[in-house]
Amino acid sequence: MAVRTSASLTFAHRLLADVLRPGDVAVDATVGNGHDTALLARLVGPAGRVYGFDVQAAALEAAGRRLAAAGLAGQVTLFPMGHERLAEALPVEQHGRVAGVVFNLGYLPGGDEGLVTRPETTLAALAACRELLAPGGVVAVVCYAGHPGGAAETAAVDGFCRELPFAGWRAARYELVNKQGAPIIAFSLEKLA
Ligand SMILES: C[S@@+](CC[C@H](N)C(=O)[O-])C[C@H]1O[C@@H](n2cnc3c(N)ncnc32)[C@H](O)[C@@H]1O
Repeated sequence: MAVRTSASLTFAHRLLADVLRPGDVAVDATVGNGHDTALLARLVGPAGRVYGFDVQAAALEAAGRRLAAAGLAGQVTLFPMGHERLAEALPVEQHGRVAGVVFNLGYLPGGDEGLVTRPETTLAALAACRELLAPGGVVAVVCYAGHPGGAAETAAVDGFCRELPFAGWRAARYELVNKQGAPIIAFSLEKLA
């Protein structure tokens, strides 16, 4: 059976495709199986750089294989660590130069559904993005409310977005309003140029 990408994830991908250009710096804060990392790597091209984070070795191995098979491994650095250590891991010369970040939250599809992203670490990483992002850069966050802890994490991300000062930021949320069941919500955070 084909896996259907959610409308909110498609929204996040379109947002990143609108902003990222060849040569840019991008971050995948939740690498998982590497689908989003591969998208970022294609968008920034061989002159750009993608930094990816995940806490599961199995995820990074799967992503590494996917990137190698697609000829994209050369422009990607994968860190086996949580995204809450984003600022510490990114080379200092890249601080303030990141054009796009994606968080695809929740659990690894096909993996341990009990190992999920958590509000505390997600919010720590989002806070780091405020400084790491270049003017005009965007963060796309896709939140899944259907698993244990997912609704609380979605609410935490929503709260973070609402508190961003309007003077320097535009934050928005996207969701299908006629879909049954637990919502999948994409947030976009744009740092004004
Ligand atoms: C929905 S999956 C990501 C899907 C992925 N982007 C893809 O394209 O396949 C969420 C991932 O977040 C990872 N994760 C959980 N806590 C994390 C943390 N603190 N930092 C980084 N990744 C984390 C999980 O291991 C899991 O692989």
